[in-house]
Amino acid sequence: MRLDYLTIFPDYLAPLTLSLPGKAAESGLLDVRVHDLRQWTHDRHRTVDDTPYGGGAGMVMRPEPFGEAFDELGLDAGTTVVFTTPSGRPFTQELARELARRERLVFCLGRYEGIDQRVIDHAGAVARVEEISLGDYVLNGGEVAALAITEAVVRLLPGFMGNAESLAEESHEGGLLEYPVYTKPASWRGLDVPPVLLGGDHGRIAAWRHERAVARTAERRPDLLHPSHAVGEWTFEPAVPADTGEIMTLWRACWVQEAIANEALDIPVLRESYEQVRDDIGAWQTWVARSRGRLVATARGRWTDAPDGSGQRWWLIGRVCAAPDLQGRGLGRAALEHVQATAPPEATTFMLFTGHRSEENHRFYRRNGFRMRPDLPSEPGTVMLTKRKR
Ligand code: ADE
Repeated sequence: MRLDYLTIFPDYLAPLTLSLPGKAAESGLLDVRVHDLRQWTHDRHRTVDDTPYGGGAGMVMRPEPFGEAFDELGLDAGTTVVFTTPSGRPFTQELARELARRERLVFCLGRYEGIDQRVIDHAGAVARVEEISLGDYVLNGGEVAALAITEAVVRLLPGFMGNAESLAEESHEGGLLEYPVYTKPASWRGLDVPPVLLGGDHGRIAAWRHERAVARTAERRPDLLHPSHAVGEWTFEPAVPADTGEIMTLWRACWVQEAIANEALDIPVLRESYEQVRDDIGAWQTWVARSRGRLVATARGRWTDAPDGSGQRWWLIGRVCAAPDLQGRGLGRAALEHVQATAPPEATTFMLFTGHRSEENHRFYRRNGFRMRPDLPSEPGTVMLTKRKR
């Protein structure tokens, strides 16, 4: 990515050569160029500002130095010109992600009362323009804002940070503030790390972290909360025919990934009709979880003859799923646990099928005590997993 900065205080941008952006520049990922705007002035005092037309306090930055800078830098449709200004669009993680996808950013850094509007209009005629504010306060100039924007954007570039997962889990990714974090020692000055984090139960840890993130967001930034995040608590209830539409919508959303992973469209869940889904609710023990009214997970179970010739009857589990936007928070695991916990006491073994290429599912079920059963018959394209009930 190429980054240009037009400023009358080039030294202010020295941090760009330090730390991670500096390293990225050395490795060739970034091409960073800081320009002294005064090089495009022609008078003895190297003047960049003048009084505002129409009167008023302060000085306005003249258009000519910017115009000449644009000509020399060569703006085009692949360039995004960023004007940092308190009257711009608020800078957010989403905007950082958007900017990280652009090829080239040219930052125009104003001082005084701002930049002549024609500079912005002119840039907008040849390139994309973003006017961005760091927040609802006034800085002395745009340099600090440009540094902040640069850091937030550059760390999202592929190959910049080693650990993509740490990016994904941070504050504002997913629209929530980050949950509190702890490291060793487990006890310090009479303050203990929450016991759930010491237990190694990843489902419980994920649920705890999500719940803390939602609580923190509700307290500090209620404006960020969307109803879909209110999933800290869920309850499983037997499904009723009136749930059919929502169940069908959720299943189709969840099983499209399965169809892609297995390169197969002939998956029953994608083909069955509304009437079939409605009738199956009664033919199985079907469970749905709701959170603040929204149907967010399902699972179902019924008797089946054991396929191993033992004459036993096993509990067949199916349609274990959690809404795509809420995955990774222990909801799918809660659905699986619920359908096992509510199986008839006489059931000796749980059995289920999943796509033979659904590797995430294989890992999920193995983590939850199931094992693959290639020794037993299953439909083409699927694998069977079983678990002895304790
Ligand atoms: N320049 C001055 N104040 C600013 C702000 N809040 N955001 C971006 N640029 C600015």
